[in-house]
Amino acid sequence: MNANKKSAFSLQVSDNGIGWITIDVPGESQNTLRGEFVDEITALFDEIESNSGIKALILTSGKDDNFVAGADIAMLESIKTAQEATELALTGHKVFSRLENMNMPVVAAIHGACLGGGLELTLACSHRVCTDDRSTKLGLPEVQLGVLPGGGGTQRLPRLVGIASALDMMLTGRQLVAKQAKKLGLVDEVVPLANLRKAAEKIAIRQIGRKRRKISELKLELKPSSLLKLPELQKLVLETSSFGRNIIFDKALQTVNKKTHGNYPSPPKIIECVKVGMEEGFEAGMATEAKLFGELVVSPESEQLMNIFFATTELKKDSGVESDAKPQNIARVGVLGGGLMGAGIAFVTADKAGKPVRIKDMNSEGINHALKYCWEIYRKRIKRKRISINHASKRFAAISGTTDYSGFKRVNLVVEAVFEDLDLKQKMVKEIEENCHEDVIFATNTSSIPISDIASASQRPERVVGLHYFSPVDKMPLLEIIKSDKTSDEVIATCVEFGRQQGKTVIVVRDGAGFYVNRILAPYMNEAGQLVAESVAVDRLDKALVNAGFPVGPMTLLDEVGIDVATKVAPILEEAFGSRMAPPAMFDKLKSDDRKGRKNGRGFYRYDVKGSKPVDESIYLALGIQPGNTMDDSTIVQRCLLMMVNEAVRCLEDGIIRNVRDGDIGAIFGIGFPPFLGGPFRYIDSIGAQEIVKQMEMLEKIHGERFKPAQLLVEKAEAGEKFYPSKD
Ligand SMILES: NC(=O)c1ccc[n+]([C@@H]2O[C@H](COP(=O)([O-])OP(=O)(O)OC[C@H]3O[C@@H](n4cnc5c(N)ncnc54)[C@H](O)[C@@H]3O)[C@@H](O)[C@H]2O)c1
Repeated sequence: MNANKKSAFSLQVSDNGIGWITIDVPGESQNTLRGEFVDEITALFDEIESNSGIKALILTSGKDDNFVAGADIAMLESIKTAQEATELALTGHKVFSRLENMNMPVVAAIHGACLGGGLELTLACSHRVCTDDRSTKLGLPEVQLGVLPGGGGTQRLPRLVGIASALDMMLTGRQLVAKQAKKLGLVDEVVPLANLRKAAEKIAIRQIGRKRRKISELKLELKPSSLLKLPELQKLVLETSSFGRNIIFDKALQTVNKKTHGNYPSPPKIIECVKVGMEEGFEAGMATEAKLFGELVVSPESEQLMNIFFATTELKKDSGVESDAKPQNIARVGVLGGGLMGAGIAFVTADKAGKPVRIKDMNSEGINHALKYCWEIYRKRIKRKRISINHASKRFAAISGTTDYSGFKRVNLVVEAVFEDLDLKQKMVKEIEENCHEDVIFATNTSSIPISDIASASQRPERVVGLHYFSPVDKMPLLEIIKSDKTSDEVIATCVEFGRQQGKTVIVVRDGAGFYVNRILAPYMNEAGQLVAESVAVDRLDKALVNAGFPVGPMTLLDEVGIDVATKVAPILEEAFGSRMAPPAMFDKLKSDDRKGRKNGRGFYRYDVKGSKPVDESIYLALGIQPGNTMDDSTIVQRCLLMMVNEAVRCLEDGIIRNVRDGDIGAIFGIGFPPFLGGPFRYIDSIGAQEIVKQMEMLEKIHGERFKPAQLLVEKAEAGEKFYPSKD
């Protein structure tokens, strides 16, 4: 080891024979595990084994707020072959198994994120104690990157917490808070941070001289204590017989297939690892884990998911402006309109950003709606034990309402979410300028009106900006910030920071009809409408796109968003971009048949039945269509997808998005563009611009000009270039 280089692992032996191993990766705010640490750890283990004075070990982190956040993803991404990844897993297995086989108690003292490889490391310890802090989270999130836990997690976790619970954790990537981890038996004790070291020490001392506990040797068995509760008993009865386990594995596979439509290879492989481990033993399970980990690390799906991870990490550091403008402090926020969007925006501002919010509506019904909406979210969280009543009440108290502008003098930023009407929004601008401090930022949540039109009513247009949230605001991850020609950099930087505080992934786009997300969504929706007009059945169409990886089908989406809303936005886009954005004629027919979607119970689907909604067959009559077109699913998907992808390229051409990264993230987080395809630009790069242009030109011949490939796409195809620079 280089004597000058600070090591990630250090050992201190205290007088009572406890060896304290501190993990502190130098120069990083988070601990992550890297292949290059193997030599360091091996040397450390040699030192421990040669020191007979050490009777027990305790693993701690040198970081204030994380234990080990997982394996270093940049290391995983740089792997070129499956063999290389398998060898990495096998090396990790060796290191962890050496720790597990040390003839002494080893206690992990966990505070902060303990995820992926970090949790797998603690599973090779004999005991785990964690803090009750909100930052303490335990989980195996590898599935979210398209891989599987490759450090023995697929084998040790089910042996410790049971097959069903382990599968649930690994297939969802869910992170547990301390209380949940204790309930599951994942940790032995939960303590306040101030007691962590003492508690770990106590366990270690108590265990000295006792038989070392090894998770790899644990058996799933029916113990008398487990007979007390019926659900647990049922679970164990299933898990302790091969027949029962097969039922669990089959059920898990079914659920996974229903969710992923076969687009993601990692969940079935996770199930396979656990199955082999349970049926053929720990060693066979570990070998399968290493092999399948190798295959997944170099899979195209995992490559795209890792790209998304890096893009969002990069976005977290992006100020949103080219200049060095600094964000101004936002202490208090005003919201205009207590409807669906205003309520959601108020909620994330109080809950996530922790800032006091004042909602102004024109009537008390609007205020009541917003308060009820926010409390309802808390009520559900309290019911699911995700938050205490005390905690929820405290945060809820930060939201207040008014029907005049009382309390608005002190707000630094106002988000406007009144009806979609230019005159009304301009009136709001004027009222805010009259009733607030002159530094106030006026942010509009308009979905279709150009920001510059709203700003034209302002005396300070540099302080007017678009903050386009998506519904439901507390769940949708994206915030699209729209900069008009006049919006100042300081305002943008402030809003980027504010959006992040609300827990959003933020992209900054230029002003223009539809901004970015709605502009690429519109041609996709229009094409879907066109397909229905060509007699493709509504449910077939939706199913084809869901199977292709979209979260919901376009007709379901139209019902949810509101057909009336879509029919309002469509002409704005047609006017701005011409006939390629013309909505299909059926929109008019839907309007005259008073079909607004779910909100008035009249849409493409029926809302008067419980459970899964059937198509409202009367829609075909209203549209004058007889469904029955047997077009291939692949053609349906190709037509809709290419319309979206091509428009994304035009947005780049027009400078609406700042770069391809924002274009991909906006499509994935705003619309649900299939993540395993990586976003419109990654998708083009993976297929090749030439091939995309070829497909578009073929469709253009059949369906006309709307399929004309964007100029930039043609240029890329001709030059044989990609949108992203090559990694090598
Ligand atoms: N609904 C969506 O999915 C969605 C998504 C993105 C953006 N938007 C945009 O957000 C805005 C609001 O949409 P929504 O769906 O929440 O509408 P909504 O109809 O649910 O709520 C609008 C609220 O504004 C209030 N209001 C009207 N005039 C007012 C005034 N003068 N002063 C104070 N309050 C007033 C109304 O009383 C109502 O409570 C619109 O501009 C819409 O285009 C909506």
